[in-house]
Amino acid sequence: KIIILDFGSQTTQLIGRRVRELNTYCEIVPYNKFPFGDDSVKGVILSGSPFSVNDTEAFKTDLNEIRDQYPVLGICYGAQLMAQSAGGAVEKSDSREYGRARLRVTDKNDPLLGFIIQENQVWMSHGDTIVRIPDSFRVIASTDDVALAAYRVDNEKTWGVQFHPEVFHTERGTEILDNFLAVCGVKKDWTPASFIETTVQELKEQLGDDKVILALSGGVDSSVTAVLLNKAIGRNLTCIFVDHGLLRKNEFETVLENYEHLGLNVIGVDAKTYFYKELEGVTDPERKRKIIGKGFIDVFDREAHKLEDIKWLAQGTIYPDIIESLSITGVTIKSHHNVGGLPEKMHLKLCEPLKLLFKDEVRKIGLELGMQPHLIHRHPFPGPGLGIRILGDITPEKVRIAQDADDIFISNLRTAGLYDKVWQAGAILLPVQSVGVMGDERTYENTVALRAVTSTDAMTADWAHLPYEFLAKVSNEIINKVKGVNRVVYDISSKPPATIEWE
Ligand code: XMP
Repeated sequence: KIIILDFGSQTTQLIGRRVRELNTYCEIVPYNKFPFGDDSVKGVILSGSPFSVNDTEAFKTDLNEIRDQYPVLGICYGAQLMAQSAGGAVEKSDSREYGRARLRVTDKNDPLLGFIIQENQVWMSHGDTIVRIPDSFRVIASTDDVALAAYRVDNEKTWGVQFHPEVFHTERGTEILDNFLAVCGVKKDWTPASFIETTVQELKEQLGDDKVILALSGGVDSSVTAVLLNKAIGRNLTCIFVDHGLLRKNEFETVLENYEHLGLNVIGVDAKTYFYKELEGVTDPERKRKIIGKGFIDVFDREAHKLEDIKWLAQGTIYPDIIESLSITGVTIKSHHNVGGLPEKMHLKLCEPLKLLFKDEVRKIGLELGMQPHLIHRHPFPGPGLGIRILGDITPEKVRIAQDADDIFISNLRTAGLYDKVWQAGAILLPVQSVGVMGDERTYENTVALRAVTSTDAMTADWAHLPYEFLAKVSNEIINKVKGVNRVVYDISSKPPATIEWE
């Protein structure tokens, strides 16, 4: 495997995804937790960082020991740190370098960059630059503004690049990373099929004849977890799918049918009345979230207790949920867990077969397992569902309006071929009434806001620039068909400073 040493860059996970796309297993570890002594490590990539190497609080570690043992590729800050710690110098650059630059490779025999014959576009993003390198370092590429865009260390398999090969805008970035993997001599056997084969085998050994329970949400992660476990242990897996009454229109029935079609052992629980009652009159978003979260655990727990001998709780935790993130305000390291208190409460052991996968890998595994593409390529949907898309208090009537409007929006996105072009979309029912006119009558009814965004990870998002004609059609259809709505607006805020959901 390849170790990606994380110095806190926003693109660290992207490096990981690129390496995995090249069928090579990699792990992201904090800069100060290098797994010395692990025989399976074949090479190391050093990430960028929000810090300058000259900052007093910058993340630093001894790179010599790593360079002695493995091929190393330093990216941006990683390259600068390596140069600095070997006696070179890094300074603030006169012009901060962000965005596109043309790379000229000067050493045509270099195993990493030599294949780039003509000038090529790369992506720069740094405020510092390397101004001097030690004697054993050789410049192998430059750009107009950066003389030292890439270096290699003599007699070592060590490189540093000040641009970002992992980002899309670096034209031949993937090939550069691939060349590094070739230098490392990795096997490139990380494929969906091999993952499934190994994981099914491991699950069989880990679980034996034990019984396992899993909460399905309709989302990709829990569904793929279920299908994978079903392949390993069959009927010993029981899935519970709770209808909290805040799902999309007909979602409960359709998804349940899909699951049964996949051969899963699923118990569908209609808990609508219970949730509506608990939520009655509650307007505060965080309280709504808490009530829905707690209600979900209670319903699940009650169902689980009807089953005998359950030993394990399976969850669709994925890699971004567990990567230890570096705290940039201090050097403390915290870890994220997407566990939600269920296993502690239920005294169950935890089984998380997807916890080393990125989202795009989970999708590939799902397809390889024969799941239908429309189940795999669904937009994300928040756990509390329409509960946080109905602003203010929740009533069954408001749920009906929100569901109908959402259904019209989403169906139109599908027929117009726009569904896969946006990252997430939905309708929000506002607690705002306004005056309208229908026929000869004055109306005083509700407003629906449409929200559609483009994004890659939900951390940042832009509003989707949907065609006016499309928005006009959706607006018309909602106002004409959904009783109680006389006005539709489109949300044109990006995140930040807005968020994707309104609550
Ligand atoms: P925001 O609104 O913070 O949303 O920009 C980012 C992503 O997270 C989803 N989201 C949630 N998911 N429980 C969830 O499981 C929640 O309480 C919740 N709130 C927001 C949101 O749909 C988007 O994908």
